[in-house]
Amino acid sequence: MKTKVITQENIHEAAKCLADGGTVVFPTETVYGLGADAFNDDAVSKIFEAKGRPGDNPLIVHISHVSQLSRLAKNVSPRAKLLIEKFWPGPLTLILPKCDSVSSRVTAGLETVAVRFPSNPIAQNLISLSGTLVAAPSANLSGSPSPTVCADVVDDLDGRVDYIIDGTGCEIGLESTVVDVSTGKTVVLRPGGVTLEMIKELIPDAELDKGLIDADSVPKCPGLKYTHYSPKADVIVVQGEKKNVRAYIGSMLSQNSDCGVLTYGGGTYDGAKLVLDAGADMTSYAHNLFSHLRTFDKHGVCTVYAEFNPENGMGTAVRNRLYKAAGHKIVEV
Ligand code: TXA
Ligand code: MG
Repeated sequence: MKTKVITQENIHEAAKCLADGGTVVFPTETVYGLGADAFNDDAVSKIFEAKGRPGDNPLIVHISHVSQLSRLAKNVSPRAKLLIEKFWPGPLTLILPKCDSVSSRVTAGLETVAVRFPSNPIAQNLISLSGTLVAAPSANLSGSPSPTVCADVVDDLDGRVDYIIDGTGCEIGLESTVVDVSTGKTVVLRPGGVTLEMIKELIPDAELDKGLIDADSVPKCPGLKYTHYSPKADVIVVQGEKKNVRAYIGSMLSQNSDCGVLTYGGGTYDGAKLVLDAGADMTSYAHNLFSHLRTFDKHGVCTVYAEFNPENGMGTAVRNRLYKAAGHKIVEV
């Protein structure tokens, strides 16, 4: 398949391709998404094929207007409405009871559907122009970090999709917060840019899925059970007092010359193959994490030592992705 990389000037072409059952990669405020017509099973199958994604991992359906929700969700509870009013459009995905017309190919047989209204104007435009609703997972090959820049999409999906829209705007850098409001409870299944603290201001008894806290229980977000969500390099998280973290990483570097370091708040390391900085706060860390992990891979780094410090807010989302990328190899110093 020949993939066309376009900019938003040619968005009409891509929208038509979606309407005709093709696949289009588009930017969102979180990460790039790999879209197809959510109401066309053959088109949806192409997503799974292009990514090499297991069929038991359901997709998020993207809308460009709140009124479109009635095509997807059987009912929208008052709690869901509170979240919608406050956080849509934006990096929040809601799990809702599905309408019969939503295919089980999209929901992987679940009775619920994941819905997101992205704030990125290119994403909104594409969905509106397509005349349908767009099922879209992150636009990476299954198992690798989600792409936040067009070049990373091309690395993974060139030749596997019809269109890639090169656009700016993955400001957040991590995938959306997934919140299950399909039961009596409000449960964050995947942490993201809309933090638990922000949700609790509206719904005080909202909670994090136990699968996210306790390493032994299975997460309710089917996608989060896959552990191979990582770069090629081995990632080792190092946390503790800054001077201990630096001393530990320094001593590891002296034993192996193929290592990289992801710093938190800057700093240099002698003997590292590559040092990249995640930034000075968790918002920057989130924005940089996936693209930096891909850069370490491009430079052939074998082991990445990642400076980290558990924090609330955006820190919860960063911790979730970083610990997964590390396969839970965490050194406390
Ligand atoms: O920011 C995002 O959410 C990006 C952009 C493209 O919108 N999309 C994204 O999709 O991250 P994906 O497929 O990579 O992750 C969706 C997650 C998966 O872990 C999936 O298992 C979960 O949402 N999910 C989808 N439908 C679900 C459902 N009905 N119940 C529980 N989890 C669901
Ligand atoms: Mg994904």
